[in-house]
Amino acid sequence: MCGIIGYIGPKNAIPILLNGLNRLEYRGYDSVGVSLINQDELSYLKTKGRVAALEEQLKEKRLQGNLGIGHSRWATHGQPNEINAHPQFDCQKELALVHNGIIENYTSLKKWLKQHGHRFCSDTDTEVLPHLIREYYQGDLLLAVQQALHLVEGAYGIALVFSKEPDKLIVARYGSPLVIGVVARGEYIVASDPTAIIDYTKQVIYLDDGEIAVLTRQGMKIVTLDNVRIDKKIQVVKWNLEEIAKSGFPHFMLKEIFEQPKTITNSLRGRLLVKEKDISLGGLGDWLDRIAKVKRVVIAACGTSWHAGLVGEYLFENIANLPTEVEYGSEFRYKQISIDPSVAYFVISQSGETADTLQSLRKIKQGKGNVFGIVNTVGSTIARETTAGVYLHAGPEIGVASTKSFTSQVTVLALLTLALARRRKTIPLKELESRMIALQKIPQQVASILKQHKKIKALAKKYCRYNNFLYLGRGYNFPVALEGALKLKEISYIHAEGYPAAEMKHGPISLIDRQMPVVVLATDTEDVIYQKVINNIEEIKARQGRIIAIATEGNKQITKLVDEVFYIPKTNGYLTPLLNVIPLQLLSYYIAVQRGCDVDKPRNLAKSVTVE
Ligand code: M6R
Repeated sequence: MCGIIGYIGPKNAIPILLNGLNRLEYRGYDSVGVSLINQDELSYLKTKGRVAALEEQLKEKRLQGNLGIGHSRWATHGQPNEINAHPQFDCQKELALVHNGIIENYTSLKKWLKQHGHRFCSDTDTEVLPHLIREYYQGDLLLAVQQALHLVEGAYGIALVFSKEPDKLIVARYGSPLVIGVVARGEYIVASDPTAIIDYTKQVIYLDDGEIAVLTRQGMKIVTLDNVRIDKKIQVVKWNLEEIAKSGFPHFMLKEIFEQPKTITNSLRGRLLVKEKDISLGGLGDWLDRIAKVKRVVIAACGTSWHAGLVGEYLFENIANLPTEVEYGSEFRYKQISIDPSVAYFVISQSGETADTLQSLRKIKQGKGNVFGIVNTVGSTIARETTAGVYLHAGPEIGVASTKSFTSQVTVLALLTLALARRRKTIPLKELESRMIALQKIPQQVASILKQHKKIKALAKKYCRYNNFLYLGRGYNFPVALEGALKLKEISYIHAEGYPAAEMKHGPISLIDRQMPVVVLATDTEDVIYQKVINNIEEIKARQGRIIAIATEGNKQITKLVDEVFYIPKTNGYLTPLLNVIPLQLLSYYIAVQRGCDVDKPRNLAKSVTVE
C-alpha cells in the first residue's frame, strides 16, 4: 500500500529519499511528501500526484538535511490531496510522521486530542499519531512514542523525525512491514520494502510487531513498547538491482511475463527430482509427512493468489485425493469457525504482506492450527509467521498485475500435489514419473508460447475496443478463466468475467452477442471435459458470439468453430493452467497498451494491499 522511506547518516537525504520513493511508487501513488531536519529546523514538501511532481517542485524549494522521511500514499482515509499527503504533523509542525496502515480508533483519539487543545488539518487517520506523541512528550521522544502507541488500535508502520531531538529517526511497526537497511554504523535507511534500500545496502533488519527502533548517528537500538531491549539479526537481501529494473522492457509487467521460463525453473530447482521419482520441499521439512496424513486442506489467499489456490484445490483433490477448500482471506478471517487440528492450512501470497491473508494466518495460529506458507517475498511477515513453508523464488514482482507469481504459485502447488500423491499412494509411480517429466518441460514450453507474442499483439489490436469480455474454462482451467478476466479488468479497465464454461447456460449466456468476445480455454483434448467445452463453444456460436479459443497444437478441427485460435504446446492436463495463462496475460497487457493505460500503475490499485 503506502510506501515509507527514511534516512539518517552523513549524506544529503533528499536524493536517497527520492530514489526510495521512486522504487516504492508501485505500492501506492496518489500523493507524495518528504520532511527533513536540518540543525534543529523541520522543513517539508508535499504534493498530490507522483514522485516526479515532487521532484519538479523540489527544484524550486530546495530542502536541506541529512535526516529525513518520505512517503508515497495510497488513500484510505481522506481524498488524495496535498493536505492529506504524508508526512502529517503536530500543531507546531515540529514533529513529522509517515504511516502505512490504518489507525482504527482514530475518531476517539482525535476527539480526546481536540479536547486537549490539538488542532487538526487533514482528514487522515494518521494525523492523530504526531499529535498524540506530542501530547506525551516531556523531553524523551522514545518514551512519548511508546506511550502514544500503547493507545493505538489498528495497523501501523511509522517513521518520524522531531526538530527538538534532531539526531534521531524513530520507526515502529505493528501489522505493516518495516525494514531497516544498515549502510554503516550511524547510517541507516528505513523503508516499508527492501526494494527501496538495496541500492545502498543489502544488510537489513526486519522489525517485528510491537518493536520500535531508534536510529542515531551513534548507532541503533531496538526496544518493545514496554522498553525491553531486543537484539535482532542482520539479514542479507539476495535480490539485485538488475532484477528490479526493467531490463529494456517497456513495462515491468511485460518483463515479468517474459521472465516466466526462468522463474518457473527457479521454483522447480532442486525440488523436482525426476531420477529419484521424488519431490524435495526443504522448507516444509518433516511437516510434509504430517500434511500427507491430514483429512482436509484449507487454503486462504486473495486476488491472483486465490486463483492459484483454486488451481491447487483441483490438483489436491484430483491427484492426491485430498479434499480442499479455498477461502478468500477477507472472508475467512471473520468466519465464526473453530480451527480444526486435523486440517492442513495454507496461505498463499506473493508479497507476504497482504493484510487479509496475514490475519487469516493469525486466526489459524490463535486456534492452535498449523499453517503453511507459499510466499514469494523472503523475510515478509507471512513468511516469518507461518509454521513452515515453500518460497516461490520468482524474484521481486513490481508490476501491480501479478503474472510470474501466479505461475510460480501453481508450480509449487503442482510440486506439493505430487509430493502428497506419492506419500498418500494415490497414483502409481509410473504416473508420478510421467507427471514429473511433463512438469520439467513447462519452462521451455512457456518460452515457446512467448515466442508467439506477436500473434497475441495482433489479436489485441483487433479486440481492444470491446468493452466486455467473457472468459470460460473448466476443471483446472476454470481458475485460469477467472485469472484472465482479472488481468484484463485491472489493467485495461474493461469489464470481464470468468466462468466455469458450463455455468454459462445458467445465466451469462444471455449476455452473448457480437459485442462480447468470449475467450475459451479449450485445451487438453484427451480429457472428458474437452468435448463438453466444445459443446459450450457451439452454444456461443449459435448466438453469434465471437470466440477466441486457446487450443492445443495440432487441433485443426476447432478452427471451424471459432473466430480466432491461439495454440499452446501439448502437456499433461494438470499443467495446462501454467501454459494457458500465458496468452491471457499477454492479451490483457497488449490490450491495455493499445488503450493507452498505465500498465504498471493501474488506477486505484496498489501492489501490496496491507490494509483491510
Ligand atoms: O501479495 P499477494 O499475493 O497476497 O496479493 C494478493 C492480491 O492483492 C493480488 O494478487 C492482486 O489481486 C493482484 N493485483 C492481481 O494481479
